Amino acid sequence: MNIPSTESVTSCSTVDTHPDWSHIPDHSRHVFLCTGPRCTQRGSLQLWKKLRRRLLEHARIETPGGVLLTRTHCQFPCNLGPVLTVYPEACWYRVRSEAEAHRIVDSHLVEGIVAADLLIRSQA
Ligand code: FES
Repeated sequence: MNIPSTESVTSCSTVDTHPDWSHIPDHSRHVFLCTGPRCTQRGSLQLWKKLRRRLLEHARIETPGGVLLTRTHCQFPCNLGPVLTVYPEACWYRVRSEAEAHRIVDSHLVEGIVAADLLIRSQA
């Protein structure tokens, strides 16, 4: 892939590097948890820890067949949050408790079965 040259957008001449940071993690699904201002007020940072811990219990973090879990800024439907989206299925979830976070992990991210009652929108 050719990447067009551009002028530097930063005045910083040194950027930290590490060989591991050239590796694209193996995963089957990419999960985006909103940690924008309104979802954070509704507990998304605490949910982040619960999701990560549950995925670790299932050995599903950044593994083949597993999940790449990414925090995002506002995904826009703030009133419905905390918002969690799952790709490639393009499922939009509201997750408001540890129990709901566990259900999304256990059902969708481990068993491959959409937790339909927690969806706010699905493209699948
Ligand atoms: S702050 Fe999460 S959707 Fe807006």
